[in-house]
Amino acid sequence: MKHMKVFVTGAAGYIGGSVAARLVSAGHAVTGLTRDHDKAAKLAAMGITPVVGTLDDGALLSSIARDVDSVINAASSDHRAAVEAIIAGLSGSGKTLLHTSGTSVIADDAQGAHGAGIVFDESTPLVTPPQKADRRVIDQLVMSAAAQGIRSAVICNSMIYGVGHGVARDSAQIPLLAAMAREFGVVRVIGKGRNRWSNVHIDDVVDLYLRAMHTTSPGAFYFAENGEASLAEIGEAIALRLGMPSVVEWGIADAARMLGRSRAHFSLASNSRVRAVRARQELKWAPRHGSVQDWIRDEMPVRSKPTCT
Ligand SMILES: NC(=O)c1ccc[n+]([C@@H]2O[C@H](COP(=O)([O-])OP(=O)(O)OC[C@H]3O[C@@H](n4cnc5c(N)ncnc54)[C@H](OP(=O)(O)O)[C@@H]3O)[C@@H](O)[C@H]2O)c1
Repeated sequence: MKHMKVFVTGAAGYIGGSVAARLVSAGHAVTGLTRDHDKAAKLAAMGITPVVGTLDDGALLSSIARDVDSVINAASSDHRAAVEAIIAGLSGSGKTLLHTSGTSVIADDAQGAHGAGIVFDESTPLVTPPQKADRRVIDQLVMSAAAQGIRSAVICNSMIYGVGHGVARDSAQIPLLAAMAREFGVVRVIGKGRNRWSNVHIDDVVDLYLRAMHTTSPGAFYFAENGEASLAEIGEAIALRLGMPSVVEWGIADAARMLGRSRAHFSLASNSRVRAVRARQELKWAPRHGSVQDWIRDEMPVRSKPTCT
């Protein structure tokens, strides 16, 4: 397989770091963006060429994009100017751009009360909450960059679990629930925790990025999931793993006060249910993991830094 030059934004983050680590081990030459000099040194130690800068440095992003074969934007699903700068750098080149999105673009406002949200696949018209409309616009920008001669694709991740392979080891939702459980001595779920999220193991996510980098069709949109669980089921597994009693219910207003509205309503209390039909069919992606509860019960780190506030 041809070795490529790849630029990864968020290279010190959970998703970007895990993808970058795999790219390095596959022999690709990886340049990684970080804002932090200490993390830059850690990237260098992993064999990644660090570039210290931010997503606001449009000229820098465009210029690096022009110099590489592929760009993987994993620093943020919500930074439109960065996406525009990368597209400007890649325009007309036939090179690959993979953009990281998230399935809160189809989240509802169930507040933990029910699990009856729509199950979306790539052929289902998306229903995007107004608070996530800007994220959806960015996804569409990336898809329509195909018309400018870019092999662009959006990977729309559900709840990612598993230990990362880069500088950042923790994902978002499950480490947050576990950190809160350690702080309060009990696992809290919002409302009744009946709301359901699709989920996907980080190693399967990394497989998907590498497959898409090599074989995506231009303008594609791929959901990423390898299973689904309710937040109560996830909470029960965390309680078992941490040796705590069963979950307790938590009011949405209290949760929003403590975590902020977006994390309470969208990250933890919504339904976000998808099926990754297209990646399985088109990229022959075959995720190896299937049960987030099994991973939590058997493998979730029992101690890690609290990140709940
Ligand atoms: N984890 C999930 O389950 C999941 C699922 C779906 C979607 N997403 C979305 O995917 C994106 C990445 O998620 P993640 O879990 O990998 O997050 P993460 O661990 O926080 O990694 C993101 C990295 O991007 C870098 N970054 C953030 N803002 C930046 C900026 N303005 N300029 C330059 N670098 C910046 C940060 O690195 P430095 O501090 O080194 O600069 C950070 O380490 C987020 O937008 C997230 O909402 C995540």
